[in-house]
Amino acid sequence: MIDYFDELLKQPSLFKDESKLDINFVPNNLLHREKELYVLSQLFLVLITNPNSTSRKILITGKTGVGKTATVKFFGKMIIEAAVKRHIFIKHIHVNCRKERTSYKVLIKIMRTINNNFPKRGYSPQELLEIILEHLNNQELHLLIVLDELSYLINDGGDLIYSLTRINDDSINSKQRVSIIGIVRDITCLSKLDASTMSTLQRNIIDFKNYSKEETFDILKFRAKISLIDNAISDELMNSITELVHNKGDIRYGLNLIWRACKIAERKHLRHINTECIRLGNQDLIPFSPQDILTYLNEQKLIFLLSITRGLKKSGKTQISLAESINIYKIICENLDIDCRSYSQLWNYLQEFKRDNIISVLVQSESFKGRKGLIEIAEFSLIKLEAEIIRILKSKGLSI
Ligand SMILES: Nc1ncnc2c1ncn2[C@@H]1O[C@H](COP(=O)(O)OP(=O)(O)OP(=O)(O)O)[C@@H](O)[C@H]1O
Ligand SMILES: [Mg+2]
Repeated sequence: MIDYFDELLKQPSLFKDESKLDINFVPNNLLHREKELYVLSQLFLVLITNPNSTSRKILITGKTGVGKTATVKFFGKMIIEAAVKRHIFIKHIHVNCRKERTSYKVLIKIMRTINNNFPKRGYSPQELLEIILEHLNNQELHLLIVLDELSYLINDGGDLIYSLTRINDDSINSKQRVSIIGIVRDITCLSKLDASTMSTLQRNIIDFKNYSKEETFDILKFRAKISLIDNAISDELMNSITELVHNKGDIRYGLNLIWRACKIAERKHLRHINTECIRLGNQDLIPFSPQDILTYLNEQKLIFLLSITRGLKKSGKTQISLAESINIYKIICENLDIDCRSYSQLWNYLQEFKRDNIISVLVQSESFKGRKGLIEIAEFSLIKLEAEIIRILKSKGLSI
C-alpha cells in the first residue's frame, strides 16, 4: 500500500503553523482595533478601580468578519490579566449563543465556568440564576459574561437577557456581580426585546466599522506572516487577495482563501503561492459563515433555500417574491416525493435565513395573512450557493 503520509511528510511545507490561520485563533496582536480595545478598557476600568460597585452592559455591533469576537476575546484576556495583577477576582466567560441556543444551556455554561462539577440537569433557569448569584457572592467574584451572536437568543431567551441585565438590581447597596458584553451584527434584531432591556443594552454601543483596504491588507499580511514560511506569498498577491476580501469586508474569507491557496500550491509542489492558486482557491470558496451555517440546516430548509437560489438565478433579477420561491419549492418537493412545509413554517425559515445573514427580506405588508416578502441574496454567488446546497443535500442522501 502506498503511504501517502510518508510522501506528504517528505514534501517541504509552505505552512509554518497552519493553526494560526484558523478562524477561531485569536492572535496576540490585533491590528487596527486599538481604538476599540481602548474604549472597552475605559468602560470597564471601574471593575478594577472599584470592584463590584458597578455593572457594565455594553453592546458591540458590526458586520460579519470585522473582528468583533476576536477583539472581545482579546479584551477578556486583557482584563483578567489586569485584575490578577491587582488581586481582584474577575471571571470572563464567552458564550456563543448560536451554539447554546436556549436560556438553560447558556446558564449551565455560565454555572460550569464557576463550578466545573455542577450537574447538567435538575434546575429551572430561575434557580440557576439564584445559584450563580450566590456563588458569586460567596466567592467575592465579578463575572464578565460575553453573549456572542446574541440574536440567536432573542426569540427564545429574551427573558434570560432581561434577567441577566437585572441580576444585580434586587436589593439596594448589594454588590454588582455581573457585567455583560452583547455582540450582534445588526442592532435591529433587538427590537423583539422588551423596551427596558433594549434601552439598557443600547446605552453603550461600540460599532465596529469595516476595515479599510489598507487595514485589511495589514491584517491579512500579519496572519500570513505568522502562519506561512517566509516568502510563501508575495505582497503583490496579498494585494489581489485584499481586493477580493475588501468588498466583502470579511477577514475570515481572506484567511480561508490564503489557507486554500497555500494547500493548492503544496499540492502542485510549488515553492510559492501563485495567482493561479488564488484563482482556484477563490473559485469554490463561499464566505465562511454561510457555509458553516448551511451544514446545520435540515433538509427542508436546504430545499427551500435552494428554491430561492434557483429562482433568483433563473430570473436574473435581484429579488424574488416569496410566492415564486414557494412555487419552485413545491415542484422540488414533488420531484423528490416529500411533503411540503406549510406557508407559516416557510415564513419562519425565511426569518432564520435572514438572521443568519444569508438573505435579506423586504416586507411589503405585515398582516399575517397577507405577508408579502421580496427576497434578496446579495452577498454571494448564486452558482456557488446552489452547488454547495446540492452538495450538502447529496451528503444527506438526496439527489437533486
Ligand atoms: N484586527 C485583526 N487582526 C488579526 N486578525 C483579525 C483581526 N480582525 C479580525 N481578525 C480575524 O478575522 C476572523 C474573523 O473575525 P471575528 O471572528 O472576530 O469576526 P466577527 O466580527 O465576530 O464576525 P461574525 O459577526 O461573523 O461573528 C478571525 O479569525 C479573526 O481572528
Ligand atoms: Mg463573531
